[in-house]
Amino acid sequence: MTRGRFITLEGLDGAGKSTHLDWLVARLRSRGHVVVQTREPGGTPLGEKLRALLLAEPMHLETEALLMFAARREHLARVIEPALDRGDWVVCDRFTDASFAYQGGGRGLAREKLALLEQWVQGEAADGLRLQPDMTLLFDVPTELARRRILGMDRALDRFEQEQGEFFERVRAEYLRRAENSRGRIRIVDATGAIDKIQQSLEEIIATL
Ligand code: TMP
Repeated sequence: MTRGRFITLEGLDGAGKSTHLDWLVARLRSRGHVVVQTREPGGTPLGEKLRALLLAEPMHLETEALLMFAARREHLARVIEPALDRGDWVVCDRFTDASFAYQGGGRGLAREKLALLEQWVQGEAADGLRLQPDMTLLFDVPTELARRRILGMDRALDRFEQEQGEFFERVRAEYLRRAENSRGRIRIVDATGAIDKIQQSLEEIIATL
């Protein structure tokens, strides 16, 4: 049985990631893949409870990182790994790049600490490599545009969305730095343009899988 593919979507809050997620999943299904669509933090009953805490409760930044990775451990064990083993594809709205970008870049937690958690939680895959997404789509927009979209929404903002502009500048810079260092895996999608143009570039990217 061929192991499924693991695709993650990343970007600033307000980058338009969710708009493209459903389209991408539908596109993969139309190509005959069985696709599990999921998200982080969350994706399991316990993970969703942790998500509610993470998005609302003030906490120490290391507590925040530990809870993100606790939810991820549960998610990997109960949803992601079994799906990939069955040969299903997994499309996940955010994964470990978000921890490096938000807790590392945004909040300033040392990269080494995050790398230790990553190693612990993502372990060693069967081929001796740490489990990593096969492909990560980074939806990139200038911070100001992302902020305008978030502030224009008709709902209360969560604990991350309430952060100031400089926080998101650091998050974006860390995402772009990681993309620079993982060119094979992280594909930057310019998410400023028209939806059909963005979908066209997504089509070209997924064709390479
Ligand atoms: P969402 O808005 O994409 O659903 O994500 C919820 C928030 O959680 C978002 O502001 C980014 C944040 N987050 C982290 O800070 N670290 C992480 O590891 C993950 C997965 C999300």
